[in-house]
Amino acid sequence: MKSFFFALVSFLSIIGLQYLSTRAYVSAEFEQSAFNGSIPSFEIVHEWKYLDFEYPTFVERQLAIKNGDFVPRNNLPLGIDIYRSRLFITTPRWKDGVPASLVTVPYPTQEISPALKPYPSWQAHSSPNNPDCSKLISVYRTAVDAKCNRLWLIDSGIVNATISLNQICPPKIVAFDLDTDEMIVRYELPASQTKQDSLHSNIVVDVRNKDCQNAHVFVTDVWRFGIVVYSLAKHRSWRVTNYNFSPNPTAADFNIHGLNFQWLDGVFGMSLSQGPKRNDRVLYFHPMASYKEFMVPIDILLNESLWTNGTIDTSKLFISIGDRGFNGQSSTSGIARNGVMFFTQVHRDNIGCWDTTKPYSRSNLGILLDANKFPTLIQFPNDLKVDHEESQGLWVMSNRLPTYLYSQLDYGDINFRILRTDVESIIAKTICNPLYESASKQKFAIVSIEEGQCY
Ligand SMILES: *[C@@H]1O[C@H](CO)[C@@H](O)[C@H](O)[C@H]1NC(C)=O
Ligand SMILES: *[C@@H]1O[C@H](CO)[C@@H](O)[C@H](O)[C@H]1NC(C)=O
Ligand SMILES: *[C@@H]1O[C@H](CO)[C@@H](O)[C@H](O)[C@H]1NC(C)=O
Ligand SMILES: *[C@@H]1O[C@H](CO)[C@@H](O)[C@H](O)[C@H]1NC(C)=O
Repeated sequence: MKSFFFALVSFLSIIGLQYLSTRAYVSAEFEQSAFNGSIPSFEIVHEWKYLDFEYPTFVERQLAIKNGDFVPRNNLPLGIDIYRSRLFITTPRWKDGVPASLVTVPYPTQEISPALKPYPSWQAHSSPNNPDCSKLISVYRTAVDAKCNRLWLIDSGIVNATISLNQICPPKIVAFDLDTDEMIVRYELPASQTKQDSLHSNIVVDVRNKDCQNAHVFVTDVWRFGIVVYSLAKHRSWRVTNYNFSPNPTAADFNIHGLNFQWLDGVFGMSLSQGPKRNDRVLYFHPMASYKEFMVPIDILLNESLWTNGTIDTSKLFISIGDRGFNGQSSTSGIARNGVMFFTQVHRDNIGCWDTTKPYSRSNLGILLDANKFPTLIQFPNDLKVDHEESQGLWVMSNRLPTYLYSQLDYGDINFRILRTDVESIIAKTICNPLYESASKQKFAIVSIEEGQCY
């Protein structure tokens, strides 16, 4: 045991040293071109070879490594959020050795690879071995509700999801007050609304008429194809289902970074429209294994009796609005104040955009990153957020998830990145610019989504 411990410590110091020399090289390469020339790009806010946590003392960190509470190579960042001077990152317990699954780092900071600080504290996180379900277990993603200063999250309650899935606590929706960092909501999803092998992994929040009590949270069950709607005012939830939440088998085969795997993941990406009137709001959504985008008016999701005392056929109330073509699978998406939707393109290591006032046709979909100039800047974009600042920023978490799951991450290499760009400047020269008319009239160099199969 003792020699294992020292072997690990020296392994870490070796990769730590190598890390210093190569990072300067990689970052300089990208920094030269970022925000330069006529095509703006993404700025690297943070990048890591592996993650480290901020322990109260060095000795506590070494002890955690020694007893297996912290296994650096098993930690992978998944969700990203930003509010004022803090970034929030989730690190789900996919494997053993994840000491906390929600963390924060200050923004901005000089450090390119900062250590992660558990949010709101170390004590708020339960150990998987002796679970306390009132604490955080395995947080997947977050949503900031800026008008009400709240951070919402979905905690799957699942540990070891990749090895031998273990639902140690019920999934729960939690909210923190971002002024006090106090937990203000904790809601466990009732057993009747979850299924065996459900995985709740994405969350968005809708607040009506600036009334913080009148809030609804939508959570996707990506493995059992449902959306759970939680009403804060009622402190109650209901489960919504529709055939469009299912994966499409033809879009379930992924070839990414030399790996071939099949993901039969259903409804996952969600974004709320910024309708002129609150009542006009719609939820756009897509399954992970799909090329298509769908929408549903939010009022339909909020009408509880429709889902609990249902006598009405709801199936046709969810409609397909178009498709992104072959290899167009997307994880998450978000809509900026100017009405432009951004979505990840996991098969293309890129970010797509769409002006929601135009038809969802391929000629109206833009691609943001020049793949020839930056072939490796984004490697598996896994989460995406539009922030709440006056000059809106677009944030992306890139994390090489397939390699982490099915192969081996090279910890001498940069594996995880948080990137940021300006909403207005990144779309200025694309078809997604709301000032441009439909793409059929003009041709733009950056629009490069190839034709794919429809279904
Ligand atoms: C782009 O970057 C190069 C190299 O860093 C610099 O010399 C040049 O002035 C930059 N151009 C613009 C338009 O910022
Ligand atoms: C996770 O899986 C490993 C390997 O099967 C097992 O040793 C470990 O106890 C599991 N951990 C939990 C918390 O279920
Ligand atoms: C909910 O849906 C039912 C059935 O369509 C409808 O009669 C009712 O008015 C709706 N309630 C609200 C609050 O919209
Ligand atoms: C559903 O119907 C029951 C019995 O008719 C009623 O008591 C309950 O209030 C209804 N629930 C909703 C949400 O409308």
